[in-house]
Amino acid sequence: MLRQKDCHVALVLLGCVIFLSMTTADNSVHILSKYAHQPLTSTTLRWLPVAHYNPNESKQIVIGGFENVSDGEDETYANQAEKPEARRPLYVCRAMHSSVWVAGTQKDKEKVCTVTIHGVVQSYEKYELLENIDGAARTAWDHWDRFVQSPLGAVCVDKTWLVARHMVSKNEKDPRYTHYIGTLSSTENFGTIVYVNENGKEESAKAGELLVETEPIRYELSAVKLTWPKQRDIKPRISRILSNVTITNHGMEPSDLAEACTYTYKYAIYWGRRHAILNGLNTTITLANGTSLPNITWGMRDEKNRTEAYNVVVFLEPGTGVNVTLKANYTDMEVPYTATLISHYEDGATMSRPISGTRQEETLLDIVPEFGPVYFLSNYSVVPTTVPPPTTTEPPTTTVTPTTTMQSQETTHRPRQMGNAADTADHDENMIVPPKKMDASNMQNDDGGPLSLKNKGDYSGVACAKSSLLTLVASPLLLLILHRIT
Ligand SMILES: *[C@@H]1O[C@H](CO)[C@@H](O)[C@H](O)[C@H]1NC(C)=O
Ligand SMILES: *[C@@H]1O[C@H](CO)[C@@H](O)[C@H](O)[C@H]1NC(C)=O
Ligand SMILES: *[C@@H]1O[C@H](CO)[C@@H](O)[C@H](O)[C@H]1NC(C)=O
Ligand SMILES: *[C@@H]1O[C@H](CO)[C@@H](O)[C@H](O)[C@H]1NC(C)=O
Ligand SMILES: *[C@@H]1O[C@H](CO)[C@@H](O)[C@H](O)[C@H]1NC(C)=O
Ligand SMILES: *[C@@H]1O[C@H](CO)[C@@H](O)[C@H](O)[C@H]1NC(C)=O
Ligand SMILES: *[C@@H]1O[C@H](CO)[C@@H](O)[C@H](O)[C@H]1NC(C)=O
Ligand SMILES: *[C@@H]1O[C@H](CO)[C@@H](O)[C@H](O)[C@H]1NC(C)=O
Ligand SMILES: *[C@@H]1O[C@H](CO)[C@@H](O)[C@H](O)[C@H]1NC(C)=O
Ligand SMILES: *[C@@H]1O[C@H](CO)[C@@H](O)[C@H](O)[C@H]1NC(C)=O
Repeated sequence: MLRQKDCHVALVLLGCVIFLSMTTADNSVHILSKYAHQPLTSTTLRWLPVAHYNPNESKQIVIGGFENVSDGEDETYANQAEKPEARRPLYVCRAMHSSVWVAGTQKDKEKVCTVTIHGVVQSYEKYELLENIDGAARTAWDHWDRFVQSPLGAVCVDKTWLVARHMVSKNEKDPRYTHYIGTLSSTENFGTIVYVNENGKEESAKAGELLVETEPIRYELSAVKLTWPKQRDIKPRISRILSNVTITNHGMEPSDLAEACTYTYKYAIYWGRRHAILNGLNTTITLANGTSLPNITWGMRDEKNRTEAYNVVVFLEPGTGVNVTLKANYTDMEVPYTATLISHYEDGATMSRPISGTRQEETLLDIVPEFGPVYFLSNYSVVPTTVPPPTTTEPPTTTVTPTTTMQSQETTHRPRQMGNAADTADHDENMIVPPKKMDASNMQNDDGGPLSLKNKGDYSGVACAKSSLLTLVASPLLLLILHRIT
């Protein structure tokens, strides 16, 4: 019984080992880089074992040339008259040949990779195809001869040898192949491209073309659609007090008083990582409606300390004051998105493809000021009301968006409907509002009772800059001041 169990465990372990060794097999594609002799790993190309290749899936395999198909040989066209120049692709493949990887050709619909080295031509059934993942790689065949020393971006067969091809000369009699795919065994002066010709014989050439992959220099994530209904909090929201402030009207007239509260918090954004996208590239982001978001470095979590201002505006009768607490929720949330990724290349070319992912964002949400009861400055007793207190304040005139690191929001708290802002637009620094048709008895507070408020001191809110200006005038000015502070 025990023995049987042991046996079972051993089998499971064996299975795991096999599984691991299969998935960790190195099918990464190396390309020559400008960084010394250290090849880079391509993010967009990979060697795909033919056993994993399902022609029904629309995977892109790098093509190295074409084979002309003579009439009659091609059955796919019933009406031969309509048949265009029939060409069949020749795919780039590699096979282990005398214990080294050698590049060669897999003809369309054939299931063998034909390679050669040292005069020995062989076709293998176990081989790998060069896959262009999601069609994201930009590949080209660049001229090579012995004067080309280190072709940047050249695709390696394994570690040092390169994927190459020889262009079939028109002078050869009735050539069927456009190119012979093979291996450049060395990039040094006496390098030679070795390939199998269409008659199955090894040939070599001192010049030809190398397969080159060009990596983009930056990305553009455009037409981003955030799927807000699928938004999810990763951690519970944490309620946070951003600042406490007391706003007072020491003037002679009823007035709108503004107080700019600044606060700093950690803001983080992460657009995720994906295969076939190069980490570390500068990326611009544009929402579907055209709004630009701040640039990011792809694949990196972008963290910064953000300082923002929230402009609290309250209407106060002379000789009164109110305490305001600015509250918010700190959230860590994620939201799925779809977008178009545009790769920009050094030569100005672009390639685009649709992608989807999940955006993670840590930020402050639901920023709301909470107003205490309005009280008399002279005796700290709560101003009595004759009408029910307001239950809500006006929503902020701007909302939190991750577009800037410095922004201003404001809310005007009006104990009572006071008419429109145009009434107060032509104001001077004396914070005097044209007298409204109301008296002190119309002012409200939250509980109405004539409470005695003790310990009323001069609150010196570090976080809030006092402003005696009207909100319309104040906002840009405050921003200016705050910019200088931060
Ligand atoms: C591909 O699709 C065809 C028909 O749809 C099917 O007969 C064949 O088995 C599929 N091949 C693989 C490898 O799934
Ligand atoms: C292939 O066929 C086309 C058209 O018949 C011809 O122009 C071309 O020379 C042929 N051979 C090659 C190697 O392209
Ligand atoms: C604001 O006041 C509350 C209670 O009165 C206190 O717990 C909190 O620390 C204060 N916050 C700031 C930012 O001053
Ligand atoms: C990203 O952009 C910044 C400024 O636009 C530039 O200084 C930096 O070199 C770029 N980084 C990369 C990896 O291109
Ligand atoms: C675009 O959408 C974002 C979020 O969906 C929104 O915050 C922003 O105001 C919109 N911009 C425009 C110009 O509609
Ligand atoms: C963002 O990147 C684009 C393209 O590299 C650049 O033109 C733009 O100035 C950058 N914007 C910021 C705010 O750095
Ligand atoms: C943000 O501020 C905290 C302390 O307030 C500091 O430890 C951290 O390094 C800052 N981070 C950045 C990105 O400036
Ligand atoms: C914070 O989030 C909780 C739960 O999502 C919500 O009930 C509460 O109203 C939020 N706080 C603020 C200040 O909006
Ligand atoms: C507090 O002072 C105001 C005028 O400054 C007065 O109207 C009010 O009755 C006083 N309240 C108390 C409880 O003394
Ligand atoms: C207003 O704030 C001051 C200073 O923080 C405090 O002493 C006073 O009790 C507060 N008043 C009310 C009505 O909350």
